[in-house]
Amino acid sequence: MELAPVVIERLVETARRAQAMAYAPYSNFPVGAAVLADDGRIFPGCNVENSSFGLTVCAERNAVAAAVVAGARPTAVAVVANGNGVAPCGACRQVLAEFAAGMPVILAQPTGEVGQVVALDALLPGAFVFGKP
Ligand code: THU
Repeated sequence: MELAPVVIERLVETARRAQAMAYAPYSNFPVGAAVLADDGRIFPGCNVENSSFGLTVCAERNAVAAAVVAGARPTAVAVVANGNGVAPCGACRQVLAEFAAGMPVILAQPTGEVGQVVALDALLPGAFVFGKP
């Protein structure tokens, strides 16, 4: 799926705003995400850490949950973190693959600069699919 530049811009802007809302007192590594849904809506997510570290939820998965509870399905995602081209973790790749194995993943910086747009199946070849041999 090819994304229009204006859509990429909106996704990155939403992810930047979400990054500013991150709750990351333990890692001090705020992450923002924005999911583009099949109906054109955009849903933000940020990481939400916990004193019991393993309960932390990543920005991407929170954005996916926001889209799903609104009745939509993810078709693309933008991620904003401090650093150059920070990509979704393995768990988030699997969660994103649930909805579109080849969805565009936009990796952007807090400045709004887009590092790369990469297909999810390049980041996660051989995603697990339930019931498939
Ligand atoms: N984090 C995300 O939100 N998304 C990722 O794809 C990678 C990691 C968060 C989890 C934790 O709050 C912090 O970044 C450091 O790992």
